[in-house]
Amino acid sequence: MTEAWRPDGDDDRLRPVAGPVRVRVPAKINLHLGVGPLRDDGYHELTTVYHAIGLYDEITARRGDTLTLTMAGEGAGELALDDSNLIVRAVRALGAYAKIPPLAKLHLRKSIPIAAGMAGGSADAAAALVACDALWGTGLAREDLAEIAVGLGSDVPFLVYGGTALGTGRGEIVNPVLVRPTLWHWVVAVADGGLATPAVFRELDRLREQGAAPPPLASTDPLLAALRQRDPQVLADALGNDLAPAAISLRPALADTLAAGEEAGALAGMVSGSGPTCVFLARNAEMASAVARSLEDSGTCRYALAVSGPVAGARVL
Ligand code: C5P
Repeated sequence: MTEAWRPDGDDDRLRPVAGPVRVRVPAKINLHLGVGPLRDDGYHELTTVYHAIGLYDEITARRGDTLTLTMAGEGAGELALDDSNLIVRAVRALGAYAKIPPLAKLHLRKSIPIAAGMAGGSADAAAALVACDALWGTGLAREDLAEIAVGLGSDVPFLVYGGTALGTGRGEIVNPVLVRPTLWHWVVAVADGGLATPAVFRELDRLREQGAAPPPLASTDPLLAALRQRDPQVLADALGNDLAPAAISLRPALADTLAAGEEAGALAGMVSGSGPTCVFLARNAEMASAVARSLEDSGTCRYALAVSGPVAGARVL
């Protein structure tokens, strides 16, 4: 065991800051979510196009003699803040990687709803890695942080990078996608209550066994081609999510949310990841605000937000 690390940095490798460090991290949606077969390790083989959107959580990291986590906002009182929390696991994983004691006082300000299909927990883990890397002065490259992230969850590496990226394997192999610098306008309709990701994958397997799910999505090529153009209608036509029928099967009311958004003028609506959040593509920012207002008036969601993407991943403010 190494000696206790001093926060004033008696280790030449470290460039600690006096703190506090504030890190902002976005939510993700999947523009294409192709789900392949169930693997022996319990994960499904995925081909996905991740897209980071402007709905953010924020982590503030301060020096501390122990590792503590507090939170406010979405999910406060519901989310366990003990060793099972992905933030705590991320901080311990970074400490083990850098061979320093994982000491910090962390506070999470949460806006990304929990169990919503927007990778909020994974986003917080990515933010914790970036925050403690800055606080402790470990100065790791994004690639190193992404490598640690693989062990924390399938979506965590993407949230270290952000932007728009292709995800393969179980989602953890991330490669940036070359796109035009276009900002797309989305509406996020947040549902009452969450859906557990494993249950949605299981439901898809069940529907497939019964022959009750549509055929798996084919290549990402049409979507990637759409991202190279500026026409939102072309992008709208290329969106797809294999998990959507499973999420709707578990939460039939999502069909009403999708219908309400499309009636309100969205170019396309889709379930975000494993749901129950629904996302809609709008032609422009004004249309996105109008669709968000209509969705809230329709009573088919808890609230709706107009956001844009792509945005950067976890970053120090
Ligand atoms: O990787 P992560 O811990 O976020 O995954 C949560 C759960 O989602 C897994 O335990 C698994 O049930 C399901 N999953 C899957 N296939 C993937 C990713 C996640 O079946 N590629």
